[in-house]
Order: sequence, then C-alpha cells, then structure tokens
Amino acid sequence: MSVVRTLAGALVGLFVIAAATDRAAAEADYPVRPITLIVPFAAGGPSDIVARTIGVDMARTLGQPVVIENVAGTGGTIGAIRTKRSTPDGYTIIIGHLGTHAAAVAIYPNLAYDPSTDFEPIGMIAGMPVLILARKDFPAKDLTEFASYVKANGAKMAHAGIGSVSYSFCQFLNQIIGARPEFASFNGTGPAMDALVAGKVDYMCDQVVAAVPKVEAGAIKAYAIGTAERSPALPNVPTSEEAGLAQFQGSAWNALFAPKGTPKSIVDQLNAALAKALDDETTRKRLVDLGSVIPQGEARSPPALADLVKREIAKWSEIIKATGPAAKNPEASRR
Ligand code: MLT
Repeated sequence: MSVVRTLAGALVGLFVIAAATDRAAAEADYPVRPITLIVPFAAGGPSDIVARTIGVDMARTLGQPVVIENVAGTGGTIGAIRTKRSTPDGYTIIIGHLGTHAAAVAIYPNLAYDPSTDFEPIGMIAGMPVLILARKDFPAKDLTEFASYVKANGAKMAHAGIGSVSYSFCQFLNQIIGARPEFASFNGTGPAMDALVAGKVDYMCDQVVAAVPKVEAGAIKAYAIGTAERSPALPNVPTSEEAGLAQFQGSAWNALFAPKGTPKSIVDQLNAALAKALDDETTRKRLVDLGSVIPQGEARSPPALADLVKREIAKWSEIIKATGPAAKNPEASRR
C-alpha cells in the first residue's frame, strides 16, 4: 500500500514538474503564434481605430500578427467577459476603456467581471478627450443653444451601448443640462457616427479620434471638448468652459489588458511592444493627429494602469449614482 502511495505521489510530482516546465518553455518562446486583440465594439469607432493603429506596430515588434477581433455588445462588456474567460497565455488581450473597465461597474450591479481583479493591466495607450457632437444641420449654433434646444424639444441621442463612454459621458451631459432624450443604441460609435453623419440621430458624445476627420470635413458639428485646453487636433472647437458648460469635464482613455494569471514576463513583453508602438514616429503622429494624448514615463506602466482603473471606478460610481438608475442586462450580469 505504502509503495503504491509513494509511486502515486512521485507521478503527481512528475506531472507538476512537467506542467511547470511546459509553462516556462511557453513563456520563454512567447509569442509563437498570432495574438488576438479583442475590440469590444464594432469596427470604425475609437477603440477599433486605436487597436488597429497600435496592432500593426506591436506585431512588428513581437514578430507575430496581432489579429483584431470585434466582439461587440452590451456597451463593451461582452468582449471583456470573453477576454476574462480566455486562457491567460498572452494570446488573447483586449483594448478596454473607461467604459468597460470603470463605468460598467456602477452601471451593471452584477457585472460578470471585476476590472480591477480579473485582468492583468498591460498599459495605457492614450487619453481620449470627449466631444459633444451633433448632426451638421442641428438647429443650434453653440452649446448654450444646444442645451436649451434639447431640454425644450427633446432629441435623439446615439450611443455605443449602456456602459460605453458615449453613453456615460452623454448621460453626464444630460444630467447637467436637464435633458431627457430619446436613445438610439449601436454596438459601437463607428455605426453611431454613420447615423449622425446621415442625420438619423441628433447628437452624441464621442472620443476624439473617430470624430476629428468628420468635424474637419464639416460632416458633423462639434460644440465643445470636455478638457481644460483645446485639442491641437481641433483648434477651432471650444473647451466646455469656453462654451459655457464648465461642469462637463473629463477625458476617456484606452488601455490594454490581459486575462488574470497571464505570466508577468508576457505582460512585460506586451507592455514593451506597446511602448515601442507609442514611440514610433508614424504611429504616434497618427494618434496625436486624431487628438489622442500619449502617456509618458511611469504613466505607461502596468501598476499606473491598475491605479487608474481603481480611481476611475470610484469616480464613475459617484457620477452614475447621480445620473440615473443602473442598467440591468442578463448577459452582463451573469457571473
Ligand atoms: C464608446 O462609446 O465607448 C466607444 O467610443 C465605442 C467604440 O469604440 O466604438
């Protein structure tokens, strides 16, 4: 009996050693196949544009393709859930943002993931100022007129799903100006922007990157940007304070995350590839020309992103408490 037990113990020991050796080899060789970068929204929106821009560069550094997979739905939470449930081996990562990795916590009381414990932060990609936008023929010449018009007449507000940046920021705006719009939900601000350009919806709050070319071309109107300074990418668009609505302040952000348990050496490699992409002249210029704000130094580190996520969850929990009832969604509430 004791011989059997000894043999069984030795076998278990061998399996443990073999598994540890396999893991160490996989870490040392990483990456040996394409990496999936989940974009939790439809193509054509800010998350998609930013992911594709840095993905090309990261692929060059890592020596493997970075394949974009759009897993849209429920304000980005479906893609986040999918990432959380992926094998933590560095071959599935996500571009998350202020919505998926902060605001969603307060919006969905039974959210199927905890942004601060179910992911390994890889690094911040960029800060994303938010614009108040309207269809080009919206009957208001400035933000003051916009606020009065929407409050008095109602309007149709587009957003990328409950929990998205476009939803949370515009609800914040609605609370400030006392508006109660009709909602038009899309699975990303790519399609929402198409509807705005086509005049099928009246207004939207979007991160700067997807909006800059449309504003420059006169396809839509930008009433204000929610930052203290004007954006060099849109120097003619006033700040919210200049436009008379100083309370509308805030910037969104995009960042990379891996599922919890992804080995540190792999997270460090991904972080280094991201940093290299952000320092590449062409990539950097494209992101800056579209109005994003590139982080520097310590702000690019995984611990800085972990801190940001915690701070933003606390901040947006307060804002969302004040802006209205929490959304309930069966998909996002399944633990
Ligand atoms: C959002 O509203 O959260 C994003 O802008 C969605 C997107 O990237 O399409």
